[in-house]
Amino acid sequence: MRSELNSVKVAENTYWVGIVDDRKVPFHRLILEKGTTYNSYLMMTEKPTLIDTVDIAFGREFVEQMSSLMDLDELAYIVINHVEPDHAGALPALLRKATNAVIVTTSLGAELLKDMFRIKNREFLIIKDGDSLDIGGKTLQFFETPYLHTAETMITYAVEDKTLYPCDQFSTHMAAHELFNDLAQEDYLPDFETYYKLIMGPHRPYVRKMLEKIAGLEINMIAPSHGYILREDPQRFISLYDEMSTLSTSGETKKVTIVYSTMTGNTRKLAQQLAEAIADYGMVVDEYNLRDADLKEVADSIRSSDGLLVGSSTRYADMVGDIEKLLQELAESEMRRIPAAAFGSYGWSGEATLHIENYLEQAGFQVINERHLLGNHGYDMSLFPLRVKFIDEKALERARQAGELFGEKVLTYTA
Ligand SMILES: Cc1cc2nc3c(=O)[nH]c(=O)nc-3n(C[C@H](O)[C@H](O)[C@H](O)COP(=O)(O)O)c2cc1C
Ligand SMILES: [Fe+2]
Ligand SMILES: [Fe+2]
Repeated sequence: MRSELNSVKVAENTYWVGIVDDRKVPFHRLILEKGTTYNSYLMMTEKPTLIDTVDIAFGREFVEQMSSLMDLDELAYIVINHVEPDHAGALPALLRKATNAVIVTTSLGAELLKDMFRIKNREFLIIKDGDSLDIGGKTLQFFETPYLHTAETMITYAVEDKTLYPCDQFSTHMAAHELFNDLAQEDYLPDFETYYKLIMGPHRPYVRKMLEKIAGLEINMIAPSHGYILREDPQRFISLYDEMSTLSTSGETKKVTIVYSTMTGNTRKLAQQLAEAIADYGMVVDEYNLRDADLKEVADSIRSSDGLLVGSSTRYADMVGDIEKLLQELAESEMRRIPAAAFGSYGWSGEATLHIENYLEQAGFQVINERHLLGNHGYDMSLFPLRVKFIDEKALERARQAGELFGEKVLTYTA
């Protein structure tokens, strides 16, 4: 294990106090072959402020280094943009020395920090989108950027310096010893793009929202928390995020087939919500109530679709109507691996969606359900299978969200 801990000036009164981690670090079931950095930034203003800390493995080292730079009792604020332990991990060790520091984070961030690190009797300053903080010689502005890449995330903008501190966003996993992108010894762009695809890409709609929020800011430097500080041509990296998060409009319009059986119409109402949400994504939706549809026609529609939603209510622990017949036929023929999911209204036990999922798996579809969505923060994991007790307004709203999620999955799906 080799690390460097140093302070390097990045802006007026602002110093990089991070760690370069040369290890091949295991992270999110990947091995970071080129190592990484944990960038932390110290602003020595009238109210000294730290932006993010470093990985939990370097807590002691980090606090020693910080102590050598300043009297930690004077640290006024610790901004936590993101609570994952590769950035917030040194917080508990730091708090023991920085006895007066106020923790600046979102309300969800504060809850998570308290739970994770058992922080008691400390003052939090809870941030809402767009809030500003005067740290005596600098103004910080904060923007909530939920799900980039976890729910509590925010970014910090140093107004006078025109510098953005976006934590994981705009990061690169590389042991960037040179620290600044204009000094980089190798081409880091492929790594920058890979990072986006793996960490931010799954939350594409939220990337669009973040880009809208920062569009009005003048940004001369992006100082993320992994890899290079982007002081040369920061706009280029914003443009890259813009390009990578924009869905290509070229190519064929995609199609989703929605097929269901219902006894009293509840499952049909779910189908309608799903269909509307998916149509809003500009996709073609073929919707069939199996009571009045030809099985063969439906199966043909499914074969030419890019996504499939199958619905049934539960009747005596089973599916209703001809849904099983259709699913048997699909399971017996070779299907392309397109996203597919189950939905249905039920009364008390709701087995139908489970039976549907089993058939969909068997037929070789990419079943969108909790297992698929686990860890894919940003989506309510209970959206699929869409199981709704009878029907009410709340259920219809959930169906709408599920439709949006499914539309996103189909549009961004690559086999
Ligand atoms: C004859 C019958 C049997 C039912 N059996 C079940 C059951 O085993 N488990 C369950 O969760 N709901 C059961 N229900 C409740 C229905 O699934 C529930 O009313 C549902 O909202 C109907 O949706 P639909 O209008 O789409 O058919 C049953 C309803 C009827 C009428
Ligand atoms: Fe993270
Ligand atoms: Fe991170």
